[in-house]
Amino acid sequence: KKGSYDHFMQKEIHEQPHSLTTTMRGRLKDGEVLLGGLKEHLKTIRRCRRVVFIGCGTSYNAALAARPFVEELTGIPVTMEVASDLLDRQGPIYREDTAVFVSQSGETADTLLALDYALENGALCVGITNTVGSTLSRKTHCGVHINAGCEIGVASTKAYTSQIVAMAMMALAIGSDQISTQARRNAIISGLTSLPSCVSEVLKLDAEMKELASSLIDSESLLVFGRGYNYATALEGALKVKEVALMHSEGMLAGEMKHGPLALVDENLPIIVIATRDACFSKQQSVIQQLLSRKGRLIVMCSKGDASAVCSNGSCRVIEVPGVADCLQPVINIIPLQLLAYHLTVLRGFDVDQPRNLAKSVTTQ
Ligand code: UD1
Ligand code: M6R
Repeated sequence: KKGSYDHFMQKEIHEQPHSLTTTMRGRLKDGEVLLGGLKEHLKTIRRCRRVVFIGCGTSYNAALAARPFVEELTGIPVTMEVASDLLDRQGPIYREDTAVFVSQSGETADTLLALDYALENGALCVGITNTVGSTLSRKTHCGVHINAGCEIGVASTKAYTSQIVAMAMMALAIGSDQISTQARRNAIISGLTSLPSCVSEVLKLDAEMKELASSLIDSESLLVFGRGYNYATALEGALKVKEVALMHSEGMLAGEMKHGPLALVDENLPIIVIATRDACFSKQQSVIQQLLSRKGRLIVMCSKGDASAVCSNGSCRVIEVPGVADCLQPVINIIPLQLLAYHLTVLRGFDVDQPRNLAKSVTTQ
């Protein structure tokens, strides 16, 4: 089943040009998005007061990556809930809400309990899942199967990118009645079409990421700074590193840097800064300057051709990635971090597909 790969995680990372293609198959036609599972419910969703995203772990991070473009394309306020935290707080969920549950397996206990809670409170419940016939798929009012194919590695990789793409199509479908955003929607649809080939291109960084991993093998900790569309990339990259490579890692909002994390910076702690082109680029350039002036050990992810724009004196290590529509960039940017987590794990001698203490599907609370 692993074919020419050593591990399922490795196979699933490299499968992403294909899994993203199957996620979109039959759903993008003549510049329109067709999601059979949402068609009948789009009017209700457009009228809702709020979209609440609910999930755990990587699925929560995928929803966080979707939040900016869902807000932008629909104009509906979006809030985020970690499933267990919503339950702990018994947070407010109303009839006028659209609650979107994101889960690869569709069987995560916390997510399903949050679903029961949202159903009791009368919200419209939408599922985004990889598993046809799962409890989530059956109990939600409607939803989208992401069709990424079976994911075996405990670390979620291809499901993450397919979840983001499924939510991009959902946002496009909800916003499709708005004339003012038509040009933006067209640009995103063309970005989606070119995504699989951009993913093939970014996967060519494999050897470079292995080399980077070998330089980090003895580090105790790794920070990842992102913002805007790529705040989620920072959280998800750090989650991959801690989950499989068993290395402490934190994803952080770059805008929060001066409010505490800056105190950690020295010449030893490796810090990845995501600084690909989007509206936040110049803010990330100044974050890099501030980290360098404190002698930070930086690894900067930037758009192709931007190496000297992000680090003019050559004192950072640079990862150059292909550019896509800004809101889809998280799909590209996570891939070098998945590769890095994979190689770090192999080099550190840990079990890639079955990390210590973890289960693929967390079916108990
Ligand atoms: C469906 C078929 C697909 C077929 C296509 C042809 C299934 C599972 N899918 O795909 O094989 O090629 O029509 O037009 O038979 N749903 C939920 N909650 C979820 C996920 C989905 O309620 O979390 C519901 C949807 O609202 C929908 C149904 O399940 O009623 C199928 O969803 P999906 O597979 O995404 O729909 P299509 O893409 O139309
Ligand atoms: O099946 P789900 O998407 O609901 O699972 C949620 C989390 O348990 C899962 O994403 C977990 O964080 C992964 N092991 C991360 O790689």
